[in-house]
Amino acid sequence: MMILFVSLDSAYVRTKGEEIAGALIKTLLGELQNSINQKGLKGSVSYCSERAIPLTDSLSKAYGVKIKRTSFKFRNPKNKPDKMEERALRFFENAMKGGKKPEYYIQTFRRGNQTIHRYYKPLFVAPLCLNCHGKDNANIPAEVLQEITKRYPKDKARGYSEGEFRGVIRVEFKE
Ligand code: HEC
Repeated sequence: MMILFVSLDSAYVRTKGEEIAGALIKTLLGELQNSINQKGLKGSVSYCSERAIPLTDSLSKAYGVKIKRTSFKFRNPKNKPDKMEERALRFFENAMKGGKKPEYYIQTFRRGNQTIHRYYKPLFVAPLCLNCHGKDNANIPAEVLQEITKRYPKDKARGYSEGEFRGVIRVEFKE
């Protein structure tokens, strides 16, 4: 049973969450850029597919936390949101509909006799992302599209435009 409550002093959660989410973005973007330079876009689909989760997991280990990337429109079924993550995703979607762009969202709850925090950082679609998450053919080159649909027959993560809300990085840690 999870009981959700509002955290009064969230500065600690915000600082720690932001640091770790930032480190993941830096790592993944750096590796993605390297891969595109070396192997091109098509080659980088397999790179994302084989390296994104292991890199995320090794950063989780290094920080002693649990990091996940998730979205309503997930590409890899392993990134499917749970109930609490759905609530966070909805928070960002609703805020954007109201013309706002929050920088984070925090959930604090009890699990057994432990207090757990979840820090969520939203991700937005940049021009680079359109190569693999944009519109078929218009943004995603044919050979890249072929590679994506081969690996992810049930892919939901295409059709985006620049600036759209793509999903979140979720960092979970104990009090
Ligand atoms: C070279 C192609 C490529 C580019 C460019 C790319 N992605 Fe992805 N993206 C992928 C692949 C492949 C996956 C699935 C990874 C996996 O299997 O874990 C993915 C997964 C994701 C996920 C995890 C949720 C899900 O759908 O499974 C997020 C979030 C994401 N991408 C955001 C972005 C953002 C933001 C950018 C731009 C900064 C970006 N991607 C650029 C190929 C790409």
